[in-house]
Amino acid sequence: MIFYFSGTGNSLWVARQLARSLGCSEPVAVADEIRKAGDGGVCEYALGEGEPLILVFPVHSWGPAVMMLRFVSRLHIRNYGGQPVYAVCTCGDTCGMTDSILSAALARRGLPLTACWSVRMPNNYLLMKGFGVDTDEVAAAKLASAPHVTEAVAEAIRKGCGPAGGTGYRHYLTGTQPWLKSHVINPLFRRFLAGPDSRTKFHVSDACIGCGLCARVCPTGAVTMSDGHPVWGRGCVQCTACINRCPVRAIDWGNITQAQGRYRHPELK
Ligand SMILES: Cc1cc2nc3c(=O)[nH]c(=O)nc-3n(C[C@H](O)[C@H](O)[C@H](O)COP(=O)(O)O)c2cc1C
Repeated sequence: MIFYFSGTGNSLWVARQLARSLGCSEPVAVADEIRKAGDGGVCEYALGEGEPLILVFPVHSWGPAVMMLRFVSRLHIRNYGGQPVYAVCTCGDTCGMTDSILSAALARRGLPLTACWSVRMPNNYLLMKGFGVDTDEVAAAKLASAPHVTEAVAEAIRKGCGPAGGTGYRHYLTGTQPWLKSHVINPLFRRFLAGPDSRTKFHVSDACIGCGLCARVCPTGAVTMSDGHPVWGRGCVQCTACINRCPVRAIDWGNITQAQGRYRHPELK
């Protein structure tokens, strides 16, 4: 069973590739599952015998995307009996200690993380000075290598990769100063920029055509439509779906994204 969170389609693409390669059913969106479960509700599932649980999500500020952590905090596998639990994170560059943050969250639900891999994909972060999406050339090179990395992950899962990397493929991009990034910067990100009360600096220009896509793709419902234009309330998790997926580039963040490019996975509908 594959669960995913994705802002701009990279993790959804990886989740679908894995599903196809492993013969699993269509990946399930955790944002929809959280919404269905309602306030404080449990997300409860059953796994088949030996059926792996696979979580696919982007790295946000050297930790798992907040929506995946919210999902895991509500996750209950009714008949858990030692089935493998795998994580596959997508990142623009490096992941820090994303694997150990997820592992701790899963352990609180009684689920030991069996193995975690990362797949480098085009960067979608542009909400801070000094950051921005990749050039077309860099994005194209990452997209060209992604199928091989994803297939190697699928192969490792098929082989039943064990706790220490086991017999399978081991690919995880930690990067430099992982502890500082994941245990100092990431908690600040989660608390002040992606928490339930977070406020945003998003705004919309006259180019807005009122299509409402930004509101539909927002995983937390922080974007609503008012008088035909989007309004941002509290609770944004900074997934960048609204700004990157706007079909007319009408959305900006403060005064820093006007000159920036935008990114969404080319196969994202
Ligand atoms: C808020 C935010 C923080 C990010 N932090 C990191 C990071 O710490 N390391 C990294 O390599 N990429 C980082 N990225 C880039 C994404 O992980 C990467 O582009 C990912 O593949 C996007 O997946 P998606 O298209 O499924 O949303 C960040 C993106 C966002 C939106």
